[in-house]
Amino acid sequence: MLFTAIGSTIHYGTPALSSVNRCGKDCSQSLLNKKIIGQYKEILQGRMSKKRYTHSLNVAMEAVRLADRYGADRDNAYVAGLLHDNAKELPIEQQRALVLGSAREVCEIEQHTPALFHAVAGAELAASDFHIENPDILSAIRYHTIARDGMSLLEQILYLADLISIDRDYKDVKRMRKLAFVDLDLAMYEALKFSVADSVARMNTIPPQTMAAYNQYTALAVKAGLKPKLKGRSR
Ligand SMILES: [Fe+2]
Ligand SMILES: [Fe+2]
Repeated sequence: MLFTAIGSTIHYGTPALSSVNRCGKDCSQSLLNKKIIGQYKEILQGRMSKKRYTHSLNVAMEAVRLADRYGADRDNAYVAGLLHDNAKELPIEQQRALVLGSAREVCEIEQHTPALFHAVAGAELAASDFHIENPDILSAIRYHTIARDGMSLLEQILYLADLISIDRDYKDVKRMRKLAFVDLDLAMYEALKFSVADSVARMNTIPPQTMAAYNQYTALAVKAGLKPKLKGRSR
């Protein structure tokens, strides 16, 4: 990993970081340059509520735990988690402008769904305001809402960390927390299944990238021997 910090004078590289001892809970202090992370946190606190900020810290910590579990770069995981919602509470018109001005591939549905704006907008601002250069971190932020097929390990880790962070409270969250540390593919399958079903129930249109991700992880789940619960005739 190499990213340039705020002010573009401080450079950060993996070799110096990977030699640092691993810690139990809040790894941010020992792993990453305190000054840089402090600057990130200061910016975040200035643009989001306390609740959203706490969520960001929780997702960062969860992402590090998943990175440790699956052998991903824990520093990238921490930064991606910390910054993933950086645009979420900005005025919606500002988010929309960032989406429409982005050179990234953004489907029609995403262009017209305000709840999804902050992923693309967040990736844009991670690059411009936080000076993140690592494409995997930027891509993880960009796809943390809609997913896609062929996700990188970091993209999957952020997607799941956002879903299972300690502040999340939904019916199956405990099961998801367990599954995320047992089998990444099956956890992604369950997460996408929930997301698609939820969109259907709400009569929301579904971005093609989400469907592609759902299809990919469903095929993996079938291959792993998972059986559907419903039986009977299908068309
Ligand atoms: Fe988000
Ligand atoms: Fe989030």
